Amino acid sequence: MYTITLLPGDGIGPEVVAGAMQVLQAVQERTGVQFVTREALFGGCAYDATGSPFPKETQKLCQEGDAVLLGAVGGPKWDALPVEQRPEAGALLPLRKQLGAFANLRPSLIFSALSDASTLKREVVEGLDIMVVRELTGGVYFGPKHRETLPDGSVKAVDVMEYSTNEIERVARVAFDLARKRSSRVTSVDKANVLESSRLWREVVTSVAGEYPDVELNHILVDNCAMQLVRYPQQFDVMLTENMFGDILSDLASQLTGSIGMLPSASLGGKVGLYEPIHGSAPDISGQNLANPIATIMSAAMMLRYSFDLPQAADLVEQAVAGVLEEGYRTKDIMQPGMKQVGTKEMAELIGVRL
Ligand code: IPM
Ligand code: MG
Repeated sequence: MYTITLLPGDGIGPEVVAGAMQVLQAVQERTGVQFVTREALFGGCAYDATGSPFPKETQKLCQEGDAVLLGAVGGPKWDALPVEQRPEAGALLPLRKQLGAFANLRPSLIFSALSDASTLKREVVEGLDIMVVRELTGGVYFGPKHRETLPDGSVKAVDVMEYSTNEIERVARVAFDLARKRSSRVTSVDKANVLESSRLWREVVTSVAGEYPDVELNHILVDNCAMQLVRYPQQFDVMLTENMFGDILSDLASQLTGSIGMLPSASLGGKVGLYEPIHGSAPDISGQNLANPIATIMSAAMMLRYSFDLPQAADLVEQAVAGVLEEGYRTKDIMQPGMKQVGTKEMAELIGVRL
């Protein structure tokens, strides 16, 4: 029996989490494992209800469960709030920090049924299978920040990008361990030609690589990496990077697969794993049964694999997703001529039934 804390959040979050729950229900029926779920307020909806985007009660539930499944947070309604009350900086970043989830795994995997859905040519993206390992609890998103008024009256804003050897080592190990289960290649991304934190990053990653003589390590500068991702993405296997570079590059990598609505993530490192789609709350399509639930369903599959050690159940879910795509079912974001368009609910139901 596993306890899952559900944080549906804002925008399309509740719809895609409901889709994932429908599939987990089918997993229970197929495999006999049992999931107990507890839902909590998180993000803008939590702010509206309690005055805090990350209420104490939610914090407690997240610590107590075996895993957290999150939909999405944020929206224009909360954009003008002071930063600590905003869903992103006031809830999502503190949640990751509190869970000690320093390693964010973002697979960019193309389903063969969708090789034509990318904005890039089929031959560029076919067979794509990249695992971005993004450092998630350090760097410039968490470093000291402030504003000050200069003597001439202009305002200066400061965000500090900082990394310690310990923070780099532990996330590098996650990347090397994963590479061993894949094609034994790690590309570490940095900006070592300019940034001191990147020079330390490169030194530490190189030294950790010494413990993994069977894994090949390459270093690449982040600007070149962005270019290579659209030029020849198949050259990458595991991509290891600090927080902000990983944020940017993982969005880029996701679009190679056709839609950001397809891609899941796992955030690991602490006792409780955090699972969330990499897309946002998409307020423009929320409540219309238009969102693609596959990223959240695939996040639930990652939860089965990484938090619950149920690799066969994870395989079942991933195969059911591939099967439904093969049959031609598509949500609006990945719709192509000749395919059958379905809504969020129908897509989740089809995947559940196929399990
Ligand atoms: C992501 C998002 C978040 C991040 C935002 C919403 C704070 O872009 O998960 O990639 O930057 O980590
Ligand atoms: Mg992002």
